[in-house]
Amino acid sequence: MKVLIIGSGYVGVNTAVVLAYLGNRVTCLDVNKEKIALLRQGKSPVYEPHLEETLNLVRDRLTFTSSYSEAGIPDTDVIFITVGTPSLADGNADLSYVRQAAESVAENLGEKFTVIVNKSTVPIGSGNWVEVIMREHFNSNHNDGQKPDFSVVSSPEFLAQGSAMRDSFYPDRIVVGSQDDRSIERLKELFGPLMRQDFNAPPGLPRPEGLEIVPLLVCDLTSAEMIKYAANAFLALKISYINEIGRLAEKLGADISAVSKGIGLDRRIGDRFLNAGLGWGGSCFGKDTAALIAIARDYKLAMPIIESAREINYGQRTLVVDLLQEQLKILKGKHITLLGYSFKPETDDLRDAPAIDISKILIQRGALVRAHDPVALINARSHYGQLGVVFCDEVGEALKDADAIVLVTEWTQYREMDWEAIPRVPVIDGRNCLDRKRMEELGFTVIGIGR
Ligand SMILES: NC(=O)c1ccc[n+]([C@@H]2O[C@H](COP(=O)([O-])OP(=O)(O)OC[C@H]3O[C@@H](n4cnc5c(N)ncnc54)[C@H](O)[C@@H]3O)[C@@H](O)[C@H]2O)c1
Repeated sequence: MKVLIIGSGYVGVNTAVVLAYLGNRVTCLDVNKEKIALLRQGKSPVYEPHLEETLNLVRDRLTFTSSYSEAGIPDTDVIFITVGTPSLADGNADLSYVRQAAESVAENLGEKFTVIVNKSTVPIGSGNWVEVIMREHFNSNHNDGQKPDFSVVSSPEFLAQGSAMRDSFYPDRIVVGSQDDRSIERLKELFGPLMRQDFNAPPGLPRPEGLEIVPLLVCDLTSAEMIKYAANAFLALKISYINEIGRLAEKLGADISAVSKGIGLDRRIGDRFLNAGLGWGGSCFGKDTAALIAIARDYKLAMPIIESAREINYGQRTLVVDLLQEQLKILKGKHITLLGYSFKPETDDLRDAPAIDISKILIQRGALVRAHDPVALINARSHYGQLGVVFCDEVGEALKDADAIVLVTEWTQYREMDWEAIPRVPVIDGRNCLDRKRMEELGFTVIGIGR
């Protein structure tokens, strides 16, 4: 099929590469010309394992543009909207990018039936809003009586950054929200290889053992949009739940890692998203939980469970600094090294990263902060250069003169580094991922979260 992806960020590039790999002709459109220039050179504008390699494998099926009029819209079968929907100050999602994308698509539609798939996470009910905007915009641009032939469908994205390619080739499910038979049929055809899992696995991304079929859930548009928010909120509260239990474990002298393992082995609970630590960050959980609360508020409903999950999560960022203060007594003038700056390993994304708040609190309390990250330093320097943190390209440089170390992001590199060569200063293991026994044998004091 001929596919257009609007927005070349984490979701857009990933979706484009996967659909091109499955044999479709895909155009990527982004208003950011720098991103398009990079893509034309075969470089991904975002860091994701296997993304750039797979992109270069299917480059002959990919086209890149920043112009709506040159994107071949009249001839396109399926258009994905994957632009950002960041939080506004009141928690609601900022829909201005979705509106711009919808209007620009409407301006360029031809006579052919086109399916518009909204993959951006938008407030529940937005699908209809996009359709209304598009119809109005189309009509105001066509005085010839031509009727637009399109349908807006919701197909929320569930990928996790750091494993986006794997999640997209081997999803747990595909959700399609639509009551339009033509759209459902077209998307069944487009997603067919993913549902049947009958494509050859791409290099470096082997198919998980036993995966034979991926379920497709077709439902109404509003339910599809709700599934996305409800899923993210549930994962977020699972993390906050274990952090709340971790706070009690610490007081009682229990080890939260053992507790997590013990409860996670119960198949009704499952062991994922049960690691106590610094909590969630990233572009989705914070923004989507805030939006869900804001949506409910419009209907005079409170969401106390989700509100508490947020409170616990953001409290973990102060808690880690308090642990540090307990160790060092005085933070003023102390050198603190942060290992990891991205919100999770295998990504360069700093949106809502705990490292940013931790840096701010530390600097506020008079500490001197140095930080290292294997891939996020370019973003850190360009977006957070004014914070007062010294960003270091080498771990050794970041560790220079350290009075204490905080492991913020569980990159493998930090777990496996030569700790023997590092001065024996207190280490706060913000992700409970270090080999504590070995580190203690080496003479380190390691303070975990909830242990
Ligand atoms: N990142 C994730 O892990 C993830 C997972 C699931 C869902 N989502 C949702 O997917 C959406 C996109 O997220 P992302 O992380 O890829 O965002 P992103 O910020 O990385 O990318 C968005 C891109 O859209 C482009 N853009 C903005 N307005 C445009 C326009 N009018 N026309 C063309 N391009 C335009 C921007 O330049 C940017 O490159 C969001 O709604 C997000 O909530 C993200």
